[in-house]
Amino acid sequence: MAISQPLTRNVNEKVLLREDAPFLKLGKAVVKVARSSPRWSSFIRNSAQARSRLEVLRTCQGLGAIPEALLEDFNDAYYLRNLIKCSYVTSVVLPLLPRSLLHPYFDVGAGLGTFTHAISSRLHDDSIRFVLLDRSCDQLKRADALTGALNLQGSFSFEVGEVGIASISRLREGFLLASYSLCELSAQHFASDLIPSAMGAAIVDYPEIIESIVVAAMKRERAVIHDFVELELPSSISGIIGQERIKVAYAIVLPS
Ligand SMILES: C[S@@+](CC[C@H](N)C(=O)[O-])C[C@H]1O[C@@H](n2cnc3c(N)ncnc32)[C@H](O)[C@@H]1O
Repeated sequence: MAISQPLTRNVNEKVLLREDAPFLKLGKAVVKVARSSPRWSSFIRNSAQARSRLEVLRTCQGLGAIPEALLEDFNDAYYLRNLIKCSYVTSVVLPLLPRSLLHPYFDVGAGLGTFTHAISSRLHDDSIRFVLLDRSCDQLKRADALTGALNLQGSFSFEVGEVGIASISRLREGFLLASYSLCELSAQHFASDLIPSAMGAAIVDYPEIIESIVVAAMKRERAVIHDFVELELPSSISGIIGQERIKVAYAIVLPS
């Protein structure tokens, strides 16, 4: 783990996850929910087709926004993977934060609530507030239902809207969470406005995005922790997502 040093785009560390790693509990709970209800079964479908449709799109368009019509593909292919990544980063970030500073959390580009689910499942506290912001009303409806199905504790509000000036001004009072959503915003926007404005932030994204965040935070003399790790998954999870390893690049901007 590096503190306030430029990020390399190579994996720094390999982490072997045991079956009983605490942050895999939520992934396993999702698998259980998905197996018990056809409504959620797509989240463990691990659709290779959906993934390749998205890969083609990203290759053609760069790291742009996922069209609304393909969000279901995104959920099929990436919810569980991203949940495991966010759960890992949650296990790194929570010990670094004083509990009194821990909310509200603003999950920007929340999608199904991936980062919110990871954090709330570790805090188990109904008084902790989470604001899930996304431009997609459909995704937030699913996020609401899935949060209920997972029986997570916390106070959750779902806001349809653009990540913009309004959300930025509120960030000063809370902690920013972002998982693969900053890659859909303009780099200038998050580097110059979003990250420096937040009281603190935890971001999971592509290595190049994490690199820009580290640079933006350092320019504002904010302390930032970042890493790029490879998680070696236990068989209970790798069998479902169809990969033995997943890579996670993250940055944590410490509360100022
Ligand atoms: C790749 S998905 C990531 C979802 C989730 N955070 C995860 O890790 O699984 C990106 C999400 O950001 C949302 N999004 C993209 N640009 C946005 C913007 N300008 N304002 C609000 N939401 C946005 C999309 O609707 C989508 O749900």
